[in-house]
Amino acid sequence: MKEKIDLNRIPKHVAIIMDGNGRWAKKHGKLRALGHKAGVMPVREVSEAGSELGVKYITLYAFSTENWNRPKAEVDALMALLVSSIKKEIKDLKKNNIQLQTIGDLSSLPSISQKTLREAVAETSENTGLTLILALSYGSRTEIVNAAKKLAIKYKNNELTETDFTEEVFSNELYTSDIPDPELMIRTSGELRISNFLMWQLAYAELYFTDKLWPDIRKNDFYEAIYDFQNRERRFGKTSDQL
Ligand code: FPP
Repeated sequence: MKEKIDLNRIPKHVAIIMDGNGRWAKKHGKLRALGHKAGVMPVREVSEAGSELGVKYITLYAFSTENWNRPKAEVDALMALLVSSIKKEIKDLKKNNIQLQTIGDLSSLPSISQKTLREAVAETSENTGLTLILALSYGSRTEIVNAAKKLAIKYKNNELTETDFTEEVFSNELYTSDIPDPELMIRTSGELRISNFLMWQLAYAELYFTDKLWPDIRKNDFYEAIYDFQNRERRFGKTSDQL
């Protein structure tokens, strides 16, 4: 599959909803937490595959604002897994020139998770290859409302006039202000939803859905999604003839 990919038309930014860990665990007669644990290896696989192809950004939906409503034991297991995985992977992130970033309301995470993330982000900040962005305690509506609030304050303080309210100015108040919009969004496990993920940023993204559960995802699945993306016609409102 990798050989079929046109290296001149690689999407700069791929966003991924990693779904199906719970169902994978159930299918294998394991606890849900073990499904999440099995979800770490695919993170590694897609990061490596993305790096090899020259993808500049991968954003992973690792924990949504809604995920706080899960049973406490599962939330605790996910937070612990995040810390242990980052500690384990930091060496390889550095070796592979991968920069780690986060988006979301990090202040709501346990302090040990915040500390581990802050350190990993700082330690990889000079890396120039793939930027791996973890969306944690992330919700798109909250992000958009917060951007509107920040602009309202600027307006109130006379730092902005009504005519300054452009799409670009709005984008600059989002978590992703320095990051290009994703051109491709992948969701695993057969669910056909956006689930409050990067709703502003995905406006023109191609959406790719696979029935595979996240823990079963390997490099080749990522290549397949890129290949599929490359065979779509992206018109941005124009006609085929205009392109
Ligand atoms: C969705 O599956 C998955 C999550 C809510 C968590 C994703 C976390 C990981 C893959 C762990 C590793 C992450 C990092 C960044 C080290 P689900 O639980 O909703 O599955 P279900 O729909 O089958 O129940």
